[in-house]
Amino acid sequence: MIENQFIMIKPNAIKRGLIGNIIEKYEKKGLKIIALKLIQMKASQARALYKEHENKDFYQSLIDFVLSGPVIVMIVQGPNAVQAVRTLNGATNPLEADGGSIRGQLGLTITKNIVHASDSVENAKKEWKIFFDDQEIINYTLPYENEL
Ligand code: TYD
Ligand code: MG
Repeated sequence: MIENQFIMIKPNAIKRGLIGNIIEKYEKKGLKIIALKLIQMKASQARALYKEHENKDFYQSLIDFVLSGPVIVMIVQGPNAVQAVRTLNGATNPLEADGGSIRGQLGLTITKNIVHASDSVENAKKEWKIFFDDQEIINYTLPYENEL
């Protein structure tokens, strides 16, 4: 099924100069970028994004971290995009993530684990709506869409 997935590239990855390296992995997988921007997130957006974690002990450090610098937010589209991106990103803890995954290759700590992606089709929609208006999502065709 064609799905839309929400992705955020976290502040430490931006500061380390990894934007191109990370986006290339999603592109090479075959996913289509249908929205993308660099933003300094507002505290209200950070709280909305991580609402499910508000009672966890790591919550405040997580919020402080995602507000500590600019992030890239993006929506990608493709067959099974939600799981495809989570597999590419790897396990939450970079020490447990597959060595070929983005977190496995680029991360060292669970707090600063490089990337975020939604965990379901429903949550992806909820999460991109925190950051994007409908008119920022672009519909277009890529020449290889029949080859995926
Ligand atoms: P979670 O939704 O469990 O992971 P994922 O990003 O893989 O969906 O947690 C959200 C973020 O919270 C996670 O990316 C990093 C941070 N976090 C911690 O800092 N410590 C922790 O023990 C956990 C579970 C998450
Ligand atoms: Mg999560």
